[in-house]
Amino acid sequence: MNTAVPQTEDAGAAACAGPTDALGTSAAQARSAALEELIRTDPGRFRVLTGDRPTGRLHLGHFFGTLHNRVRLQELGVELFVVIADYQVLTDRDVADNLLQHVEELVLDYLAIGVDPARSTIFTHGAVPALNQLMLPFLSLVSVSELNRNPTVKDEIAHSRQSAVSGLMFTYPVHQAADILFCKANLVPVGQDQLPHLELTRTIARRFNDRYGAGSAVFPQPDALLSSAPLLLGTDGTKMSKSRNNAITLAATVDETARLVKGAKTDSERHISYDPATRPEVSSLLLLAALCQGRSPEQVAADIGSAGAAALKKVVTESVNEYLAPIRARRAEYGQDRAHLRAVLSEGNERARAVADATLAEVRAAMNTCY
Ligand code: TRP
Repeated sequence: MNTAVPQTEDAGAAACAGPTDALGTSAAQARSAALEELIRTDPGRFRVLTGDRPTGRLHLGHFFGTLHNRVRLQELGVELFVVIADYQVLTDRDVADNLLQHVEELVLDYLAIGVDPARSTIFTHGAVPALNQLMLPFLSLVSVSELNRNPTVKDEIAHSRQSAVSGLMFTYPVHQAADILFCKANLVPVGQDQLPHLELTRTIARRFNDRYGAGSAVFPQPDALLSSAPLLLGTDGTKMSKSRNNAITLAATVDETARLVKGAKTDSERHISYDPATRPEVSSLLLLAALCQGRSPEQVAADIGSAGAAALKKVVTESVNEYLAPIRARRAEYGQDRAHLRAVLSEGNERARAVADATLAEVRAAMNTCY
C-alpha cells in the first residue's frame, strides 16, 4: 500500500534547496518538486490526506490553491482521503454554527469539482472515534513549549474572535496529526501556513515509532506537497477569505460573480499590466482570469492593453463564469439530492472508521495496551 516515500531522500532534497526560511519553505518546495516526479512515475505508493474546516462554502482561493490539486492527484491515481474537520471549527469560536449545513456544502463542493467518492474517501473526523482516540497518545509525545511556539496557532490566536484561548486551540495541531496518521497518509497537499502542523505530525510519527515501534515503523513521516499556485487576493485586495466577504465562491451565481468583480479594488492607471509587487489588485484579477483561461497573466494583460479597469473586470467576470459553469451545473445537480450527499458521507465515514480501527489496534498492540 503506501509504503513510504524513501525518507532518506529528505536530507538530500533539503540540502540542495539552499538557505531555508523560518518555516522551511524553500526546502519544502524542493522536496515538492522531487515528489511530483515520484507521483508521476508511481502514484500507487502515495496516500493523500487533506481537508477543510466546515465554516462555509469554498471559494476560488481554495480552488486554485488546493482543491484543484486534489482532483489532479486523484486523476493521477493517488489514493485520496478528504477530512471535513468539524472539531477544528471550535478552535477559534465557542459555537460551531450550522455545522450540518456547512458539512453538506463542503461535500457538494467536493463532488462538483470532481472528487469521486468511488475512489476517494470524504469523511468528518467527528464520526471516526478511533481517529480521535489517537490524540491521547500523541499528546504525550509533544511538549507544551512545542505547542506554544507553533506560528500558525499564534497567528490564529491573534485573530481569534474568542476572549479566552481554549485548550483546543493549542492542541488542534496534534489532532490534525491524528487526521493524517490514522490512515497512514504519506503525502499532504497544503499551503505554507500548514507547514508547522505537518512538521509536528512528522515529529509525532517519529517519536511514536522510536518509543513504541520496537524497530519497525508504525507510522510514515508524511511529506508536504506545496501548491505551486500563486496566492489570489480577495476583491478588496486583502487575502481571499470566507470571513472577509471578499471571496468569489464556487457556488456564486453568474450575477453574484459579476457584482463581486465589479466592486473589486483596482488602481487609477489605465494601462493594464501584470506587476504583483506594485499593482497587487490589478495583478490578482489578471491572475484569476489567466488561471481560468489557462494562459499567463501577461498574455491576458496584453489583450486588454489600455482599455482600463472596466475592460479588465469584464474579462475576469466572463472567464470565471465560463470556467465555473460546468462545476456550478454539477453542484446544482448534486444539490437536488440530499439523500445522495448523506450517503456519500456515511459511506466515507464508514471507510474511514475501518481504517482508523485497524490503526488504533496497531497502536494499542505497540503500546502494549490490549486488555
Ligand atoms: N487546518 C486545515 C485548515 O485550516 C484543515 C485540516 C484539518 C487539514 N485537518 C487537516 C489539512 C489535515 C490538512 C491535513 O484549512
